[in-house]
Amino acid sequence: MVKINVNLGERGYPIYISTDFSGLGKACADAGLHGKMVIVTDSNVGKYYCDACAEELSCAGAGDGAAIPRIVIPAGEESKNLNTVREIYRRLISLKIDRKSSLVALGGGVSGDIAGFAAATYMRGVNFIQVPTSLLAQADSSIGGKTGVDFEGRKNMIGAFYQPKFVFINVNTLRTLPVRELQSGLAEVIKHGLIRDGDFFDYIASNLDKIFSFDENVLQYITKMNCAIKGNIVEQDEKESGLRAILNFGHTIGHAVESVSGFKMLHGECVSVGIAGAYRLALKLGMVDEKTADKAEGTLRQAGLPVRAQGMDRNKIYETMLYDKKMKEGRLYFILPKNIGEVVQCAVEDEDMIKGVLSEIV
Ligand code: GLY
Repeated sequence: MVKINVNLGERGYPIYISTDFSGLGKACADAGLHGKMVIVTDSNVGKYYCDACAEELSCAGAGDGAAIPRIVIPAGEESKNLNTVREIYRRLISLKIDRKSSLVALGGGVSGDIAGFAAATYMRGVNFIQVPTSLLAQADSSIGGKTGVDFEGRKNMIGAFYQPKFVFINVNTLRTLPVRELQSGLAEVIKHGLIRDGDFFDYIASNLDKIFSFDENVLQYITKMNCAIKGNIVEQDEKESGLRAILNFGHTIGHAVESVSGFKMLHGECVSVGIAGAYRLALKLGMVDEKTADKAEGTLRQAGLPVRAQGMDRNKIYETMLYDKKMKEGRLYFILPKNIGEVVQCAVEDEDMIKGVLSEIV
């Protein structure tokens, strides 16, 4: 088992990277969690991993594994709203969950974001554990404490920063993930290489076949790198007042594409389109050359990811971008590449240039 620490003082926590769930109970004990446990999972993931996870949690004194309550939410982004959170609160009240209890998010980004938000707000905060089972969640959303829900068509509009007590990653859970979801998660993995580490980007590009054949060593290595890159950024800027914004690479266009698609496109697919758009914008601004932009886009394609939002209305994407959180003081901010492995945040005010890029990616 590999262990990485996210150093955030009293809110700091370990990330465990393993090939099974053994050690989950000990991780609870090490974190001092001895109260009631509730698993929050979704209708896809629960049937595969709830029992194994509950069995391990029972080792932490949470009682018989079979008796650990499970709250199962419908799988998919459509569940990520305040109605689902209300249902979770109701269940927590009926289960007499108190402030010594822990909510265990078992699943992908949606389960983690909703369970985290419920944990942050129920009784002003109960313990929270992340057990991410999708690549997107293992690479990105389970680390760093962003929790929340979508609101009236707007992605992640309501939420809170709330760090987990620990993150426990079993890389073998990726085996039951639909290929499209695995590809979607790869967008965030590739993003980490593109923003911070060109060698890691090259490693991903040369090991795509091993990722798709679930090579444990490769999966553990990329997970370790993801956690190290993301953890390091979060340590420097927990609440996104500066540096952390670079993790939004590809998201200015990506979030808008996701909303305009009516959440039919997966998050990572939209981020991939957004990354391609960011390279094209950087190309127009003279920040990167064509060879570099092609290399980034080529790897996204090789990973099976879209780099175009075909058929989408570019004006709708533009209008949606104007309402996103990346709009500050009337200016639209982008994270733009300077190379492979280095990005900067900048405001782009040339509407024609942005619309020109959008025309190239639809
Ligand atoms: N997914 C971007 C962040 O956690 O900041």
